[in-house]
Amino acid sequence: MLWKLGELGISRVALSHRPESPQERQLVAWLPEADWPEAERQQLRQALEPLAATFGLALPPLQWQRQLDEDWSLSWKQHWQADPVGQRLLILPAWLELPPEHAHRLVIRMDPGSAFGTGSHPTTRLCLEALEGLAMERGSASGGGAALAGMRVADLGCGSGILGIAALLQGASTVAAVDTDSLAVRATADNAAVSGFQDRLQVRLGSVEELAGMLEGRRADLLLCNILAPVIEALAPAFHTVLAPGGVGLLSGLLVQQAPRLQQVLRPLGWEAELTAQQSQWGLMVLHKAR
Ligand SMILES: C[S@@+](CC[C@H](N)C(=O)[O-])C[C@H]1O[C@@H](n2cnc3c(N)ncnc32)[C@H](O)[C@@H]1O
Repeated sequence: MLWKLGELGISRVALSHRPESPQERQLVAWLPEADWPEAERQQLRQALEPLAATFGLALPPLQWQRQLDEDWSLSWKQHWQADPVGQRLLILPAWLELPPEHAHRLVIRMDPGSAFGTGSHPTTRLCLEALEGLAMERGSASGGGAALAGMRVADLGCGSGILGIAALLQGASTVAAVDTDSLAVRATADNAAVSGFQDRLQVRLGSVEELAGMLEGRRADLLLCNILAPVIEALAPAFHTVLAPGGVGLLSGLLVQQAPRLQQVLRPLGWEAELTAQQSQWGLMVLHKAR
Protein backbone atom coordinates (compact mmCIF):
# COMPACT_ATOMS: atom_id res chain seq x y z
CA MET A 1 0.00 0.00 0.00
CA LEU A 2 2.85 2.37 0.87
CA TRP A 3 4.48 1.74 -2.47
CA LYS A 4 1.22 2.43 -4.29
CA LEU A 5 0.76 5.69 -2.40
CA GLY A 6 4.32 6.64 -3.34
CA GLU A 7 3.52 5.98 -7.00
CA LEU A 8 0.51 8.29 -6.69
CA GLY A 9 2.76 11.03 -5.37
CA ILE A 10 1.55 10.70 -1.77
CA SER A 11 4.71 10.74 0.28
CA ARG A 12 3.55 12.02 3.66
CA VAL A 13 2.38 8.83 5.25
CA ALA A 14 2.65 7.19 8.63
CA LEU A 15 1.83 3.70 9.82
CA SER A 16 0.86 3.87 13.44
CA HIS A 17 -0.14 1.34 16.04
CA ARG A 18 -0.46 1.24 19.77
CA PRO A 19 2.58 -0.45 21.34
CA GLU A 20 0.28 -2.94 23.09
CA SER A 21 -1.34 -4.11 19.84
CA PRO A 22 1.19 -4.06 16.99
CA GLN A 23 -1.12 -6.14 14.79
CA GLU A 24 -3.72 -3.35 14.55
CA ARG A 25 -2.27 -0.76 12.26
CA GLN A 26 -3.60 2.47 10.88
CA LEU A 27 -2.25 4.08 7.75
CA VAL A 28 -2.46 7.86 7.78
CA ALA A 29 -1.74 9.93 4.67
CA TRP A 30 -1.68 13.72 4.39
CA LEU A 31 -2.99 15.14 1.10
CA PRO A 32 -3.25 18.81 0.04
CA GLU A 33 -6.98 19.49 -0.18
CA ALA A 34 -6.63 21.54 -3.36
CA ASP A 35 -5.07 18.58 -5.21
CA TRP A 36 -7.48 16.00 -3.83
CA PRO A 37 -11.12 17.14 -4.21
CA GLU A 38 -13.92 14.64 -3.59
CA ALA A 39 -13.76 13.11 -7.09
CA GLU A 40 -10.00 12.54 -6.82
CA ARG A 41 -10.42 10.96 -3.42
CA GLN A 42 -12.96 8.51 -4.88
CA GLN A 43 -10.41 7.59 -7.52
CA LEU A 44 -7.83 7.02 -4.85
CA ARG A 45 -10.10 4.45 -3.28
CA GLN A 46 -10.56 2.74 -6.65
CA ALA A 47 -6.79 2.66 -7.16
CA LEU A 48 -6.20 1.01 -3.78
CA GLU A 49 -9.00 -1.58 -3.91
CA PRO A 50 -7.35 -3.94 -6.45
CA LEU A 51 -4.16 -3.86 -4.41
CA ALA A 52 -5.99 -5.03 -1.29
CA ALA A 53 -7.79 -7.66 -3.38
CA THR A 54 -4.41 -9.07 -4.52
CA PHE A 55 -3.84 -10.09 -0.91
CA GLY A 56 -7.41 -11.39 -0.51
CA LEU A 57 -8.30 -8.38 1.68
CA ALA A 58 -11.13 -5.87 1.56
CA LEU A 59 -10.03 -2.25 1.73
CA PRO A 60 -11.30 -0.80 5.02
CA PRO A 61 -13.35 2.40 4.86
CA LEU A 62 -11.26 5.51 4.20
CA GLN A 63 -11.82 8.28 6.72
CA TRP A 64 -11.07 11.90 5.92
CA GLN A 65 -10.22 14.62 8.39
CA ARG A 66 -9.42 18.22 7.54
CA GLN A 67 -6.12 19.30 9.05
CA LEU A 68 -6.20 22.99 9.79
CA ASP A 69 -3.41 25.46 9.43
CA GLU A 70 -0.72 23.30 10.90
CA ASP A 71 2.75 22.18 10.02
CA TRP A 72 2.19 18.86 8.29
CA SER A 73 5.55 17.44 9.07
CA LEU A 74 4.96 18.04 12.76
CA SER A 75 1.52 16.51 12.48
CA TRP A 76 2.65 13.20 10.99
CA LYS A 77 5.51 12.99 13.42
CA GLN A 78 3.04 13.02 16.29
CA HIS A 79 1.88 9.56 15.22
CA TRP A 80 5.09 7.87 16.29
CA GLN A 81 5.87 6.95 19.83
CA ALA A 82 8.66 4.97 21.48
CA ASP A 83 8.09 1.46 20.22
CA PRO A 84 9.64 -1.56 21.97
CA VAL A 85 10.49 -4.52 19.72
CA GLY A 86 11.46 -7.93 21.03
CA GLN A 87 13.21 -8.11 24.38
CA ARG A 88 15.83 -5.44 24.04
CA LEU A 89 15.30 -3.13 21.09
CA LEU A 90 13.45 0.18 21.07
CA ILE A 91 12.53 2.25 18.02
CA LEU A 92 12.60 5.84 19.13
CA PRO A 93 11.58 8.76 16.90
CA ALA A 94 14.69 10.93 16.67
CA TRP A 95 12.85 13.92 18.16
CA LEU A 96 11.71 12.15 21.38
CA GLU A 97 13.49 11.69 24.71
CA LEU A 98 14.21 8.13 25.84
CA PRO A 99 11.39 7.13 28.21
CA PRO A 100 12.95 5.94 31.51
CA GLU A 101 10.97 2.68 31.45
CA HIS A 102 12.88 1.71 28.28
CA ALA A 103 16.30 2.87 29.46
CA HIS A 104 17.66 -0.71 29.42
CA ARG A 105 16.92 -1.18 25.70
CA LEU A 106 19.16 -0.62 22.66
CA VAL A 107 17.75 2.48 21.00
CA ILE A 108 17.26 2.69 17.24
CA ARG A 109 16.75 6.42 16.65
CA MET A 110 14.69 6.98 13.51
CA ASP A 111 13.55 9.84 11.38
CA PRO A 112 12.39 7.83 8.40
CA GLY A 113 11.20 10.75 6.27
CA SER A 114 9.09 9.10 3.61
CA ALA A 115 11.28 5.96 3.38
CA PHE A 116 9.88 2.58 4.37
CA GLY A 117 10.96 1.39 7.77
CA THR A 118 9.34 3.09 10.74
CA GLY A 119 9.27 -0.33 12.34
CA SER A 120 5.48 -0.54 12.22
CA HIS A 121 5.32 -2.93 9.32
CA PRO A 122 5.23 -6.62 10.30
CA THR A 123 8.05 -7.47 7.91
CA THR A 124 10.39 -4.94 9.53
CA ARG A 125 9.45 -6.24 12.97
CA LEU A 126 10.00 -9.84 11.87
CA CYS A 127 13.50 -8.90 10.71
CA LEU A 128 14.28 -6.96 13.90
CA GLU A 129 13.09 -9.84 16.07
CA ALA A 130 15.07 -12.37 14.03
CA LEU A 131 18.15 -10.15 14.26
CA GLU A 132 17.74 -9.98 18.01
CA GLY A 133 17.28 -13.77 18.16
CA LEU A 134 20.45 -14.28 16.14
CA ALA A 135 22.35 -11.85 18.36
CA MET A 136 21.19 -13.62 21.52
CA GLU A 137 22.07 -17.03 20.10
CA ARG A 138 25.55 -15.92 19.11
CA GLY A 139 26.02 -13.89 22.29
CA SER A 140 25.35 -16.87 24.53
CA ALA A 141 27.49 -19.13 22.30
CA SER A 142 30.39 -16.70 22.79
CA GLY A 143 29.92 -16.56 26.56
CA GLY A 144 27.83 -13.38 26.53
CA GLY A 145 30.20 -11.28 24.40
CA ALA A 146 29.02 -8.65 21.92
CA ALA A 147 26.34 -10.54 20.10
CA LEU A 148 26.99 -9.82 16.42
CA ALA A 149 30.62 -8.90 17.05
CA GLY A 150 32.75 -8.68 13.96
CA MET A 151 29.90 -9.39 11.56
CA ARG A 152 29.88 -7.65 8.20
CA VAL A 153 26.32 -6.94 7.18
CA ALA A 154 24.73 -6.34 3.77
CA ASP A 155 21.37 -4.51 3.85
CA LEU A 156 19.64 -4.96 0.51
CA GLY A 157 16.66 -2.57 0.23
CA CYS A 158 17.55 -0.60 3.35
CA GLY A 159 14.58 1.83 3.41
CA SER A 160 15.11 3.98 6.51
CA GLY A 161 18.24 1.96 7.41
CA ILE A 162 16.50 0.51 10.46
CA LEU A 163 17.79 -3.06 10.07
CA GLY A 164 21.43 -2.15 9.50
CA ILE A 165 21.37 0.23 12.45
CA ALA A 166 19.84 -2.48 14.64
CA ALA A 167 22.67 -4.82 13.58
CA LEU A 168 25.33 -2.22 14.44
CA LEU A 169 23.73 -1.62 17.84
CA GLN A 170 24.08 -5.33 18.50
CA GLY A 171 27.79 -5.38 17.73
CA ALA A 172 28.05 -5.80 13.94
CA SER A 173 31.25 -4.21 12.67
CA THR A 174 30.08 -2.66 9.39
CA VAL A 175 26.99 -2.36 7.19
CA ALA A 176 26.90 -1.91 3.43
CA ALA A 177 23.40 -0.78 2.42
CA VAL A 178 21.66 -0.08 -0.88
CA ASP A 179 18.24 0.99 -2.01
CA THR A 180 16.83 1.84 -5.42
CA ASP A 181 14.95 4.79 -3.90
CA SER A 182 17.03 7.93 -3.42
CA LEU A 183 14.84 9.07 -0.50
CA ALA A 184 15.67 5.83 1.29
CA VAL A 185 19.40 6.37 0.67
CA ARG A 186 19.16 9.81 2.21
CA ALA A 187 17.06 8.59 5.15
CA THR A 188 19.53 5.77 5.85
CA ALA A 189 22.52 8.13 5.79
CA ASP A 190 20.70 10.58 8.08
CA ASN A 191 19.61 7.88 10.52
CA ALA A 192 23.09 6.35 10.63
CA ALA A 193 24.46 9.79 11.50
CA VAL A 194 21.82 10.29 14.23
CA SER A 195 23.14 7.11 15.88
CA GLY A 196 26.80 8.06 15.31
CA PHE A 197 27.31 5.19 12.82
CA GLN A 198 28.27 7.29 9.79
CA ASP A 199 31.73 5.66 9.69
CA ARG A 200 30.44 2.10 9.92
CA LEU A 201 27.38 2.27 7.67
CA GLN A 202 27.90 2.96 4.02
CA VAL A 203 24.85 3.48 1.81
CA ARG A 204 24.48 3.89 -1.94
CA LEU A 205 21.75 4.13 -4.53
CA GLY A 206 21.35 0.84 -6.37
CA SER A 207 20.65 -2.82 -5.96
CA VAL A 208 22.53 -6.06 -5.50
CA GLU A 209 25.21 -5.28 -8.11
CA GLU A 210 26.10 -2.05 -6.34
CA LEU A 211 26.13 -3.89 -3.01
CA ALA A 212 28.56 -6.51 -4.35
CA GLY A 213 30.84 -3.68 -5.51
CA MET A 214 30.74 -2.02 -2.09
CA LEU A 215 31.82 -5.26 -0.40
CA GLU A 216 34.98 -5.32 -2.54
CA GLY A 217 35.15 -9.10 -2.80
CA ARG A 218 34.73 -9.67 0.97
CA ARG A 219 31.22 -11.03 1.09
CA ALA A 220 29.00 -10.31 4.09
CA ASP A 221 28.35 -12.63 7.05
CA LEU A 222 24.75 -11.45 7.28
CA LEU A 223 22.36 -10.46 4.50
CA LEU A 224 19.22 -8.49 5.39
CA CYS A 225 16.63 -8.36 2.65
CA ASN A 226 13.06 -7.24 3.29
CA ILE A 227 11.52 -6.81 -0.16
CA LEU A 228 8.45 -8.29 -1.85
CA ALA A 229 8.80 -11.95 -2.86
CA PRO A 230 8.95 -11.41 -6.65
CA VAL A 231 11.82 -8.97 -6.12
CA ILE A 232 13.63 -11.41 -3.81
CA GLU A 233 13.16 -14.04 -6.50
CA ALA A 234 14.72 -11.75 -9.12
CA LEU A 235 17.64 -10.87 -6.82
CA ALA A 236 18.31 -14.42 -5.58
CA PRO A 237 20.68 -15.46 -8.44
CA ALA A 238 23.06 -12.72 -7.21
CA PHE A 239 22.90 -13.58 -3.49
CA HIS A 240 26.19 -15.51 -3.79
CA THR A 241 27.91 -12.27 -4.78
CA VAL A 242 27.01 -10.58 -1.49
CA LEU A 243 26.66 -13.37 1.11
CA ALA A 244 29.61 -15.53 2.16
CA PRO A 245 29.10 -19.32 1.98
CA GLY A 246 29.07 -19.59 5.79
CA GLY A 247 26.79 -16.57 6.19
CA VAL A 248 23.15 -16.17 7.20
CA GLY A 249 20.40 -14.30 5.39
CA LEU A 250 17.19 -12.91 6.86
CA LEU A 251 14.55 -12.59 4.16
CA SER A 252 11.17 -11.00 4.73
CA GLY A 253 8.67 -9.04 2.67
CA LEU A 254 7.14 -12.33 1.59
CA LEU A 255 3.71 -13.70 2.25
CA VAL A 256 3.71 -17.04 4.06
CA GLN A 257 2.07 -18.65 1.05
CA GLN A 258 4.96 -17.47 -1.15
CA ALA A 259 7.58 -19.29 0.97
CA PRO A 260 7.45 -22.66 -0.88
CA ARG A 261 7.96 -20.96 -4.23
CA LEU A 262 10.96 -19.01 -2.89
CA GLN A 263 12.43 -22.21 -1.45
CA GLN A 264 12.09 -23.81 -4.90
CA VAL A 265 13.85 -20.87 -6.53
CA LEU A 266 16.64 -20.78 -3.93
CA ARG A 267 17.46 -24.51 -3.77
CA PRO A 268 19.00 -24.87 -7.26
CA LEU A 269 21.01 -21.73 -6.49
CA GLY A 270 22.61 -23.58 -3.56
CA TRP A 271 20.60 -21.97 -0.73
CA GLU A 272 18.31 -23.44 1.89
CA ALA A 273 15.64 -21.14 3.26
CA GLU A 274 13.48 -22.02 6.22
CA LEU A 275 10.33 -20.16 7.21
CA THR A 276 10.96 -19.50 10.89
CA ALA A 277 8.48 -16.80 11.89
CA GLN A 278 5.33 -15.10 10.75
CA GLN A 279 3.11 -12.16 11.69
CA SER A 280 -0.38 -12.20 10.20
CA GLN A 281 0.21 -13.27 6.58
CA TRP A 282 3.84 -12.05 6.41
CA GLY A 283 6.74 -14.46 6.78
CA LEU A 284 10.43 -14.46 7.60
CA MET A 285 12.88 -16.96 6.16
CA VAL A 286 16.39 -17.74 7.37
CA LEU A 287 18.78 -18.43 4.53
CA HIS A 288 21.88 -20.68 4.69
CA LYS A 289 24.12 -22.28 2.11
CA ALA A 290 22.70 -25.73 1.32
CA ARG A 291 24.75 -28.54 2.83
C1 LIG B 1 9.84 -3.32 2.45
S1 LIG B 1 11.00 -2.02 2.31
C2 LIG B 1 12.14 -2.50 3.58
C3 LIG B 1 12.84 -1.36 4.23
C4 LIG B 1 13.68 -1.74 5.46
N1 LIG B 1 14.77 -2.62 5.12
C5 LIG B 1 12.79 -2.43 6.49
O1 LIG B 1 12.97 -3.60 6.74
O2 LIG B 1 11.89 -1.75 7.02
C6 LIG B 1 11.81 -2.49 0.83
C7 LIG B 1 12.84 -1.49 0.34
O3 LIG B 1 13.50 -2.09 -0.77
C8 LIG B 1 13.71 -1.13 -1.79
N2 LIG B 1 13.81 -1.89 -3.05
C9 LIG B 1 12.81 -2.36 -3.83
N3 LIG B 1 13.32 -3.07 -4.85
C10 LIG B 1 14.68 -3.05 -4.71
C11 LIG B 1 15.77 -3.60 -5.45
N4 LIG B 1 15.57 -4.33 -6.54
N5 LIG B 1 17.02 -3.40 -5.00
C12 LIG B 1 17.25 -2.66 -3.87
N6 LIG B 1 16.26 -2.09 -3.16
C13 LIG B 1 15.00 -2.29 -3.56
C14 LIG B 1 12.51 -0.21 -1.67
O4 LIG B 1 12.81 1.07 -2.22
C15 LIG B 1 12.27 -0.17 -0.16
O5 LIG B 1 12.95 0.90 0.45
